[in-house]
Amino acid sequence: MSGMIAPSILSADFGKLNEEIEMINLSRAHWFHVDVMDGVFVPNISFGFPVMKTLQAKATKPLDVHLMIVDPDRYTQAFADAGAHVLTVHAEACTHLHRSLSNIRNHNMKAGVAINPHTPVESLREVLYLCDLVCVMSVNPGFGGQSFIAHTYAKVKALKKMIVEARTATLIEIDGGVSLSNAKALLDAGADVLVAGNTVFGSRNPSQTILDLSLIAQ
Ligand code: DX5
Ligand code: ZN
Repeated sequence: MSGMIAPSILSADFGKLNEEIEMINLSRAHWFHVDVMDGVFVPNISFGFPVMKTLQAKATKPLDVHLMIVDPDRYTQAFADAGAHVLTVHAEACTHLHRSLSNIRNHNMKAGVAINPHTPVESLREVLYLCDLVCVMSVNPGFGGQSFIAHTYAKVKALKKMIVEARTATLIEIDGGVSLSNAKALLDAGADVLVAGNTVFGSRNPSQTILDLSLIAQ
């Protein structure tokens, strides 16, 4: 299967959000990656429902929502109403991860779970059948533009093996420090979805960079 590209709007220019959304609409991107941070689970606050509302109205591609918030179950319904296609919660933020993932599916969204760099992929074994997506964090979450953690390759390979053994259709997403230099190796290791913030929006021509990434992922 060829890989998908999900530009992270966290790195977009919010002074011209409509234009940034339109650029992604017209690009070769597959999804919008939407980073919601609460300043508690991660040491940063990003945005919430007002931005979701604009995306819901203007984006023509699925919204891949990454919740970096404590107790995310409180907002499952609200993100379903706001048009999330994939809703990803952090394993570290969910005391009852099985319940959280089931709730997401019961609200007709794809259920995703993200794991921080210190969290072993083995911790997901018993819930893999409930995961439409596992987001492997390749940086400590909270900020765009951080350096890629190379240990991620080993985690992706181990996770891919688990998914093949469990015979689930779980997608592997990589989030943090994805670039034109490491994209191919990540896909070769088993990744299905590459999130890219700084690589896209920090480039001279974001639309071209999305095209370059999508050609690598073809
Ligand atoms: C980090 C976020 C990422 C971030 C990625 O906490 O979850 O989605 O936007 O940004 P880059 O690609 O710049 O590392
Ligand atoms: Zn993210």
